[in-house]
Amino acid sequence: MSTLLVTGGAGFIGANFVRHALEHTDHDVIVLDKLTYAGNLASLEGLPADRFRFVRGDIADAAVVGELVAELAPATDAIVHFAAESHNDNSLEGPRAFLDTNVVGTFTLIEAARQRDLRFHHISTDEVYGDLELDDPAKFTELTAYRPSSPYSSTKAASDLLVAAWVRSFGLRATISGCSNNYGPYQHVEKFIPRQITNVLRGQRPKLYGTGRNVRDWIHVDDHNSAVLAILDHGRIGETYLIGANGERDNLDVVETILELLGQPRDAYDLVSDRPGHDLRYAIDATKLHAETGWTPRYTDFRDGLARTIEWYRANEAWWAPQKDATEARYAEIGR
Ligand code: NAD
Ligand code: DAU
Repeated sequence: MSTLLVTGGAGFIGANFVRHALEHTDHDVIVLDKLTYAGNLASLEGLPADRFRFVRGDIADAAVVGELVAELAPATDAIVHFAAESHNDNSLEGPRAFLDTNVVGTFTLIEAARQRDLRFHHISTDEVYGDLELDDPAKFTELTAYRPSSPYSSTKAASDLLVAAWVRSFGLRATISGCSNNYGPYQHVEKFIPRQITNVLRGQRPKLYGTGRNVRDWIHVDDHNSAVLAILDHGRIGETYLIGANGERDNLDVVETILELLGQPRDAYDLVSDRPGHDLRYAIDATKLHAETGWTPRYTDFRDGLARTIEWYRANEAWWAPQKDATEARYAEIGR
C-alpha cells in the first residue's frame, strides 16, 4: 500500500495513528476529518508536507468522500476508518450525531470503497459485546454475541454489521478491529484518564462514577495502532480481530495510581453519580490477533505508560487547556 486515507485523523487515536504510520512505514497519509469538538489540528502539527495532507470534511458527505477515493489506487491504497462520535456520556445526552456519523458516515465510506474496490479497515470497539461480570472467567472473543448497551456502542455495532454485510454481498475487501480502552497523548479531556490527570494538575479532585469498581482493559494507543498496521498487512479479508493487551484495572485503582504519581493522597477523589447503563467490565482475548498477525504489545507496564501520559499532559497544557473549562461545564450540567 502507498497511500492511506485516514478518517478521524485529527482525533485521539487517529492522530496517533497518522504519526505512527508516517514514522514506521513508507505510506503517505491523507486525513479526512470534520473537526468536531473532538478533532484538533494541533494534534497533527509538524508532519511532513510531502507525505501528509489534511482535508476538512464529513464522512457522511458522499461528494467529499467520492472525490477523495477517486485519488486512491485499488491495488496499493487503503481507507482506515477511525472517524466516529466516540464518547458514551455524550451519546446519552444527544444520540443523533452518533447515528449520523457512526452509521450513515460508515455507510457512505463503504459504498465509496466498494465502488472503487478499495481495501477498507474499520476501527471498532469491544463495547459492541456489552459487558462482563467482575468474576466472569471469560473474556470477549471474536465469537462473542453482540449486546451493546449505549447509544454509542449500538451505533458502533450497527457500523460493524454494515461492513460485514458489504463484505458478503458486495465483496468489499474489509477487515474490522475491536479494541479495548486506549490511553496516551492527544486524548480529549472528556475521557476518563485525561480528565482525572488534568483535574489534579489544576488542583481539582478526580471524579469517579458510581462505586469506581467498573473495570476497563487498558491499552496504550501506540499498541492499538501497531495492531491496526499488522491487520492491514496480515489480516484476512472479512475477518474481525480483537485488540487488547491484558490491561484490566478498575477505575478506582487507576485514579489512585494517578493521584500517587502526581504526589497526592490516594483518597483525594470524589464519588459522583453513575453513568446510566454503565457497562461493568470489558476484557479482551487477543489470541486470534497474535496467532494470525504475530502482533505483540510494547507497553505492558500500565503504571509506566500512565506515568509517561501524565508527563505528556503536564508538558502540553497549551494543547488541552482550551477544552478543559467547556468540558467540565458540560459535566457539571449532568452532575458528573
Ligand atoms: P475521538 O472522539 O478522539 O476522535 C474522533 C475524530 O473523528 C475527531 O477528530 C472528529 O473530528 C472526527 N469526526 C467525528 N465525526 C466526523 C464526521 N462525521 N466526519 C469526519 N470526521 C469526523 O475518537 P477516538 O477516541 O480517537 O476514537 C477513534 C475510533 O476508535 C472510533 O471509531 C472509536 O469508536 C474507536 N475506539 C476508541 C477507543 C478509545 O478508547 N478511545 C477504543 C476502541 C475503539
Ligand atoms: O472500550 C472501548 C471504549 O472505551 C471506546 O469504544 C470509547 O470510544 C471510549 O470512550 C471508551 O469508552 P468508556 O466509556 O469505557 O471510556 P470513558 O473514558 O468514558 O470511561 C472509562 C471508565 O471511567 C468508565 O467506566 C466510566 C468511568 N469514568 C469516566 C469519566 C469520564 C469515571 O469514573 N469518571 C469520569 O469522569
